[in-house]
Amino acid sequence: MSAHIAVVPGSARRDSLNRRLAGDLAARFAERDQTAVVVELGDYPLPIYHGDDEVESGVPDAAIALHGVLAQADGVVLVSPEYNGGMPALLKNSIDWVTRVERAVFHRWLIGLVATSPGSRGGANVLRAMRHVVDHMRLEVLPTSLSVPHGGEAFDEPVDTTSPARLARPDVVAATDAFVDEYVTALADWVGRRDLAD
Ligand SMILES: Cc1cc2nc3c(=O)[nH]c(=O)nc-3n(C[C@H](O)[C@H](O)[C@H](O)COP(=O)(O)O)c2cc1C
Repeated sequence: MSAHIAVVPGSARRDSLNRRLAGDLAARFAERDQTAVVVELGDYPLPIYHGDDEVESGVPDAAIALHGVLAQADGVVLVSPEYNGGMPALLKNSIDWVTRVERAVFHRWLIGLVATSPGSRGGANVLRAMRHVVDHMRLEVLPTSLSVPHGGEAFDEPVDTTSPARLARPDVVAATDAFVDEYVTALADWVGRRDLAD
């Protein structure tokens, strides 16, 4: 039985490097017979979390819908940009709202942490920031994270939802393609092993 993996970019930007990487990862999971979907946070517009609003109006429908999509997943891969050394508000706010729908859902997932940025460090700080959050929540996380440095030079193609961009410039980021493949194989095996154990 194939596992179901939700790949969640932490950017909704039209030309986002992380959305491109998410599409590439989903395609690689599919090549390994895993069901993978890219879950676009831009499709679930949420206000910045405010406790008074929650008391007065309840949890927004978009948070319930996002939870519903993610609840089908065995594995969730967060693919995030780094904003000032941390997680973008879009990603953290979406996580916060989903915990207000159901916190237990996070404990049913295996989590992968991935980042890309235009710089040479590839979003190393946001990987630490995401790990801090998932460790705090005591979630099961793949020990190895993946960062793709020089993301701005890694993709030739624009984001296209019908035909995802692939890492098209392995000549520019020499070892990246093999590195990404290795990571995807490790994550697919890990999710698959848990699937078999259930
Ligand atoms: C508010 C803001 C803060 C940023 N801070 C960082 C940073 O700390 N480190 C970094 O490598 N890039 C930083 N960047 C640059 C982003 O990595 C770059 O814009 C990237 O392309 C955003 O991801 P996306 O292409 O997936 O939207 C920042 C960008 C913005 C808008």
